[in-house]
Amino acid sequence: MKIIGTGSALPKLVVTNDMLTKYFDTSDEWIRTRTGIETRRIMTDESLKDLAVAAAQRALEAAGVTAKDIDYLVCSNVNNNYVYPSLSSIVQGAIGASCPCIDIRNACAGFVYALDMAHMYLHTGRASRILVLAAEEPTRFCHWEHRETSVLFGDGAGAAVVEIGDGFLGSKMTTISNTDVLYQRQRLEPTPFEDLSSEAYTNHTMVMQGREVFRMAVTGCSNEISHLLTEHGFSTSDVKYFILHQANMRIINGIQQYLKADPEQFPTTVQKYGNTSSASVAILLDETVRANKVQRGDLLVFSGFGAGFTTGSCILRY
Ligand code: COA
Repeated sequence: MKIIGTGSALPKLVVTNDMLTKYFDTSDEWIRTRTGIETRRIMTDESLKDLAVAAAQRALEAAGVTAKDIDYLVCSNVNNNYVYPSLSSIVQGAIGASCPCIDIRNACAGFVYALDMAHMYLHTGRASRILVLAAEEPTRFCHWEHRETSVLFGDGAGAAVVEIGDGFLGSKMTTISNTDVLYQRQRLEPTPFEDLSSEAYTNHTMVMQGREVFRMAVTGCSNEISHLLTEHGFSTSDVKYFILHQANMRIINGIQQYLKADPEQFPTTVQKYGNTSSASVAILLDETVRANKVQRGDLLVFSGFGAGFTTGSCILRY
């Protein structure tokens, strides 16, 4: 696999930390020092489909290919307006592609898992050019009076077009089942027929044990990245950039310190976009590429973490 084009799209509304103080007892100082987040983008009159389509079209344009040249579409997404059809099916029609589509719902680690899947499709000859998309609207599923979670998130979409090549060097994926530290229940829970009085509409917003998530993220991603570097005979300094899930500046700093890497090797967007779930790695990749910071041949490490508890990392030459 090699990456031949990237794109991203964000909602236009910029929400500052100060704006959130209208909703609950918080402060710009608390949010900045605990998370590094200064602003986030929140969807208003845009739909997630709009963002996903815009990100996909920018990636296709950057790759110099059309939607008809794509022979598989993988989309990472946890929530959108539809339970089904898949978001990838919706985007496929809107961009004019005609390939098979699949969504994966693997929370914030989803884009890294989607890249890994795309690599396997290419490697086995099932496809020759794939659109890998991540589109997320976590702000629609936060409880806007729960200050512990709602300050962290923002909406957005990112995409990469990949095709057969020799860039992908390896990956390491881990899931340690822990369904208590981070979860969100379906808005409509299946109602057991013997209990028609069950509370179908309650408990549907995000629940998180922040400290435990923090610990699992730093430990999981640091271990995976170290494993990958050792396995492939690289040292930290061989890597141009570590493209990490943008959840919290302190988590990124924790991983950087564990790896004894240079902070300059960790580009970030978390300050301006917050945590856009699985879209964050794709958006960061696109911004880094568009800023001309990545040259062909540079070594990149991608790493994501999220509910599951799931982590995933891969290493590739751009
Ligand atoms: N504004 C002001 N105060 C807040 C607050 C907010 N938005 N949210 C929580 N607090 C308060 C708490 O109530 C607590 O008060 P208390 O000491 O009086 O009980 C205090 O701040 C400290 O809370 P604590 O949870 O110990 O803070 P923390 O240093 O662990 O930071 C997180 C909280 C959520 C920022 C941090 O745990 C974190 O980043 N975790 C990872 C979350 C994440 O990345 N999730 C997504 C994974 S994909």
